[in-house]
Amino acid sequence: MIDIQSIREDFPILAHTVYGKPLIYFDNAATTQKPRAVVEKITDGYYHVNANVHRGVHFLSQAATEAHEKARQVVQQFLNAASPNEIIFTRGTTEAINLIASSFTEACMEEGDEVILSAMEHHSNIVPWQLQATRRGIVLKVVPVNGKGELCMDTYRSLFSERTKLVSLTHVSNVLGSINPVKEIIREAHAHDVPVLLDGAQSVPHIKVDMQALDVDFYVFSGHKIYGPTGIGVLYGKEKWLDKLPPYQGGGEMIASVSFEKTVFNELPYKFEAGTPDYIGSTVLAEALHYVGKIGLDAIAAYEKELLQYATRQLKTIDGTRIFGEAAEKSSVLSFLIGTIHPYDMGMLLDRLGIAVRTGHHCAQPLMNALGIEGTVRASFSFYNTKEEIDAFIAGVRQVKEMF
Ligand code: ALA
Repeated sequence: MIDIQSIREDFPILAHTVYGKPLIYFDNAATTQKPRAVVEKITDGYYHVNANVHRGVHFLSQAATEAHEKARQVVQQFLNAASPNEIIFTRGTTEAINLIASSFTEACMEEGDEVILSAMEHHSNIVPWQLQATRRGIVLKVVPVNGKGELCMDTYRSLFSERTKLVSLTHVSNVLGSINPVKEIIREAHAHDVPVLLDGAQSVPHIKVDMQALDVDFYVFSGHKIYGPTGIGVLYGKEKWLDKLPPYQGGGEMIASVSFEKTVFNELPYKFEAGTPDYIGSTVLAEALHYVGKIGLDAIAAYEKELLQYATRQLKTIDGTRIFGEAAEKSSVLSFLIGTIHPYDMGMLLDRLGIAVRTGHHCAQPLMNALGIEGTVRASFSFYNTKEEIDAFIAGVRQVKEMF
């Protein structure tokens, strides 16, 4: 059960007004707001536990190291990974995908080898592979999306060849909200002996994930989308894969020994964490995961589903509404257009009413091309949003429609 009143009190920003109107924040797929406990953890870290990690014999350095490694264990438990060695801290989803794109292609791919992506990928799961296509001659194969915004699974199955080396797909679409059938995707790939990377940026804040149950090979997400800080994210990788891959960046931390003749790399997870890590960010992310865990992802998913269904029903009562993404399994993202109203116009006018939505291509231009549109208006809901806010949003959309 969601205790909405007490939850909203945890997020001071939700009490703000913009242009004299109460803020209605429906841009949660872009970034989430932070509860007080998360914000306070930042100052607490810098005031009380600030020293570089893994380097000092002194008290403070050991305390900081302990807190940072404890945070890694919190992430491990959150994902139900088999070992903390499988948890690599990165700057976010984008860096984690770039890491795999670089290291995996170097270790496991040759010119002409193939990666399977989908038409609903965010640019962060397209461009890193294109860079490798240019540098190493790898080939990208793309799973199309059907009219409801679901992956065409028959085509997915038909894309495998003896040159397929990796499947890299989003778990949840940031535009359509579609929750992809990842168990089936992974089963199929493994039947071809092909590992799978899942982009979890839009799933971990909404759905319970379990690395061992999924049997996924790589999984990535960003802290700021799950009520944590910006600038930190996670790459989960099965130890057997991470052991095989070369480092992504060189520097301090990731080495066991260095001479000008030879460098011996550090063990996991440090091999992939060059330089001073974001040791405050890691503990703050752990605090955010605690917060989400306290509410419970099952309760969050149930409440957000209610919000999504309510908003979808209400929006459909407005003439000329087109909703993009009506997959059977969907997370709390509502992309739409009203008649010929340009998404930017809708977004700007809603903003004047205090309602924050995202407009445009949502960093998914190939998907926009497939849908034959330039962009959408996207309202994305969190467990701190309410039906009253949705009512105000629907009234706002009607008001904008009447202006055109
Ligand atoms: N990836 C983020 C979004 O979908 C920024 O808005």
